[in-house]
Amino acid sequence: MKVLALVGSLRADSFNSCVMETMKERYAAWSISVADIGSLPFYNQDVELIPPPIVKAFKKQVSDTEAIIIVTPEYNWSIPGVLKNALDWLSRVELVMVGKPVLIIGASTGMIGTLRAQTHLRQILSGPGLNARVLPPAGNEVLVNFADSKCKNGRLADEQTLLFLDQVINRFNDWVKTNTP
Ligand SMILES: Cc1cc2nc3c(=O)[nH]c(=O)nc-3n(C[C@H](O)[C@H](O)[C@H](O)COP(=O)(O)O)c2cc1C
Repeated sequence: MKVLALVGSLRADSFNSCVMETMKERYAAWSISVADIGSLPFYNQDVELIPPPIVKAFKKQVSDTEAIIIVTPEYNWSIPGVLKNALDWLSRVELVMVGKPVLIIGASTGMIGTLRAQTHLRQILSGPGLNARVLPPAGNEVLVNFADSKCKNGRLADEQTLLFLDQVINRFNDWVKTNTP
């Protein structure tokens, strides 16, 4: 499956990038590429009809992918601005996220592992301009808490989390295949 990942942290030693890099290796049967959302300019409605080439290319990447994985930290009980900015671009003019299968994953150093950010992200993704198909949360909430103790040398090294991730990835794979119109 062709998958595009959006990572909500730009930090060099990001725990969310650690999870993403682990997934790229562990689920090598998928082709996972990571979008460079940190290079997107701030969304500006004045230019949305003729967006900068980098925005155009990003929207095409999203349009061409079978599924999206969002791996994000929680910033101030919500999602980071860099991720919201990317989603704002995607929510206008060509609505490339409508019906797009999305899996949400998050890693934080705290106890509840981005639960508030993920809840907020679900709300954002259900807005009319995005209207994505997000994997239902029951049994599928990947909340990597205490991530600083679970990432070693840039890779997720917690066996229990990895096994749970395997289960969710399998369910997401089946769900995408059976629910694609
Ligand atoms: C601006 C900022 C806001 C944060 N807000 C929250 C928060 O609301 N809840 C939380 O659990 N952690 C919060 N954190 C801690 C992050 O979970 C932690 O820094 C995490 O490692 C960030 O992800 P990264 O490693 O992928 O960069 C915040 C961190 C920053 C820098």
